[in-house]
Amino acid sequence: TMKSIARRADLKAYVEHNPQLYQLLRRAAARYVTGDDRRDGLEAAASLTAQGYDVSLEYIGENTATEAECEAAVRELSGLIAELAGNRRKARVSFDLSHIGLSLHTDLALRNLLQLAEQAEPAGIELFISMEESAKTDRVLDVYERSVARYPSSIGITLQAQLHRTAADLAQRLPGNSLVRIVKGAYQESEQSALPRSEQLNRRYLELVEHAILQGHRVSIATHDQQIIDTILTRGWLSEGAAEFEMLYGIRTELSRKLKAAGHPVRIYLTYGSEWYLYICHRIAEHPPNLYRAVIDMASG
Ligand code: FDA
Repeated sequence: TMKSIARRADLKAYVEHNPQLYQLLRRAAARYVTGDDRRDGLEAAASLTAQGYDVSLEYIGENTATEAECEAAVRELSGLIAELAGNRRKARVSFDLSHIGLSLHTDLALRNLLQLAEQAEPAGIELFISMEESAKTDRVLDVYERSVARYPSSIGITLQAQLHRTAADLAQRLPGNSLVRIVKGAYQESEQSALPRSEQLNRRYLELVEHAILQGHRVSIATHDQQIIDTILTRGWLSEGAAEFEMLYGIRTELSRKLKAAGHPVRIYLTYGSEWYLYICHRIAEHPPNLYRAVIDMASG
């Protein structure tokens, strides 16, 4: 699948040696990734902020294989935090722990995260841990627990509704008044550990959001699913300012615009980086029509 391709270390070489594939993915990426450089992410962030959105920023990367690459990723994230702090932007910075060391050593990821948090906290910038495939969930939650204990208001965690374990994780692994983002889950998982896209998954998603709000967490409702969003709006859970909607840049923009116009807090999740092909493979895997869309875009110039 696109997902397993996305994780192959030689994907970049493969894409770059296939000019037509490169062009097609690049075309698809133009819709969902702000650009190769930090500047591209920051420009898009400034424009969205001016329109009244909050933003999350991700420097794309995952499964970093050497310490030198981890250091380079931490340097980039640190530069991003410094620029956001300089502009007094209350942005959120999101990343995979495997981008900053989890694939090499749990403690390396923890050390790097603590270093970033030390810089981010005084600037009021939130660091948000993404959730990766279920083989990593325990280690991601370990690093989260050990870091959030020191930086309770600056570090957030993403939980995947598709995993059977998530209700227990939500109840047991988060301290009070935490920052939590609830997503359906982008990874292909076994039936033993996860639900596929279904009504049952949507019901579970709603229960998790309700529990998270009742537990007093600050919740990002990170979905483009209109049915889930409509249900949440009719239940009035947002009235306390305890939750926001969060959507990926370039996806269902009419929906985010409508929610913002109705006065709801909406955050847009932006990405940038030269490893854009990793990100785009995830987006195509979760929504294959994106590939046809890119073909149509390319054919029409
Ligand atoms: P669903 O997949 O059912 O899609 C609902 C509708 O939204 C679709 O019918 C379509 O109209 C539209 N849509 C969804 N995806 C689309 C796409 N790629 N292109 C075009 N249209 C699309 N996952 C994860 O495993 N770990 C993580 O850390 C994160 N982090 C994260 C942050 C934020 C802010 C968001 C919004 C999402 C994530 N995800 C994630 C991804 C998430 O798990 C999930 O794969 C996507 O959000 C798609 O699922 P939906 O909830 O939108 O529903």
